[in-house]
Amino acid sequence: MPYRIAVLPGDGVGPEVTREAVRVLRAMEDLCGYDFRFTEVSIGAAAVRECGDPLPEKTREAALEADAVLLGAVGSPDLDRAPAHLRPESGLLALRQALGGYANLRPVAAHDALSACTPLRPEVVCGANVLIVRELLGGLYFSEPRGYVPGECAVNTLRYTAPEIERVARVAFDAARGRSGRVASVDKANVLETSRLWREVVMCVGRDYPDVILEHYYVDSFAMLLVTTPLRFDVVLTENLFGDILSDEAAVLAGSIGMLASATVGGSVGLFEPVHGSAPDIAGTGAANPLGAIATAALLLRHGLGLNNEAAIVESAIDMVLAEGWRTPDILRGSPKGACRVTTAEMGTLVERAVSDVMNMRHAYHAV
Ligand code: NAD
Ligand code: IPM
Ligand code: MN
Repeated sequence: MPYRIAVLPGDGVGPEVTREAVRVLRAMEDLCGYDFRFTEVSIGAAAVRECGDPLPEKTREAALEADAVLLGAVGSPDLDRAPAHLRPESGLLALRQALGGYANLRPVAAHDALSACTPLRPEVVCGANVLIVRELLGGLYFSEPRGYVPGECAVNTLRYTAPEIERVARVAFDAARGRSGRVASVDKANVLETSRLWREVVMCVGRDYPDVILEHYYVDSFAMLLVTTPLRFDVVLTENLFGDILSDEAAVLAGSIGMLASATVGGSVGLFEPVHGSAPDIAGTGAANPLGAIATAALLLRHGLGLNNEAAIVESAIDMVLAEGWRTPDILRGSPKGACRVTTAEMGTLVERAVSDVMNMRHAYHAV
């Protein structure tokens, strides 16, 4: 059975890291005998330059017809002041809305091999493993009214309905059941009405999960606790904007934002994107870390195509490459003696080779 994968490389380092993720998916296709049909279409600044629209109709259609969507990153400094309809980020937000995925899963783990890479002390960070469940279709990002009168005033609206909160909360509680059974719900209920509703609905959903321990935190204090005592946390459930900010902060636990992957579920088609942006400061230099995009490909295999074993193979291959000491510049800090600096494409090739090593090891293990 063919699997249709829409590939939207986007801008800046987006195409560079996406190329490596597709390289690894092709290796899995060959090794496992699948038939992956890739359709590459444009989004973001690349699409604005091509046809004046950050989410062209052709891209929307290809995404909606696919079994899963792999996206690199959007964003370009030359369009930072463009009107909203021409901004690359508008294309991404419109795509998220079109696909309908409301739960954005952002797993963040401290890799053993990278414990000296983060500025945090190893005893603080070692063993950290959180899953941020970010609400993706509501809150300040999408609520109306919104508007901007240059130089005079601007309005954004923060609105949540109970069903919007309930559906994402269920994703978090279900995920906690397969992990260590704890949900930390993050809000600002001491100030915001939307957060009071958030807390009320999350507590209500929590009653259906008596086996899961639910705690509530205010976002300001949680931001501190996340980097001072990350081992306390398992699943982190939060609204759209808080989730955006906290996931970049959580990248410190993993060593680099270039390591983080995400999967958006709950819609008609799964959307898979690394957490980082288009990184214009390093685009074109070969310094981008493709491991977040490759880990995103693993999430696509698991949550998009239901290929759980294959996802685990890609994740083991990433661990293997890190354990061997291969490093893009963003994860060089604190690396062991003999560690080797590699480019984006070299890192992709190393993971490509490692997936076949991991498969051979698994076959050898099952043969004895
Ligand atoms: P960014 O994530 O692009 O970059 C932040 C820092 O992290 C930079 O120093 C960058 O060099 C580094 N970095 C990011 N990805 C990396 C990687 N793979 N390997 C090594 N280092 C990496 O965030 P920003 O600079 O705030 O935003 C740049 C543009 O990206 C903006 O236009 C923004 O709107 C957009 N953006 C897009 C997405 C997305 O498409 N999902 C996400 C975040 C930001
Ligand atoms: C992310 C990004 C996006 C967001 C932007 C580019 C719209 O920061 O995916 O984390 O804020 O959701
Ligand atoms: Mn972000």
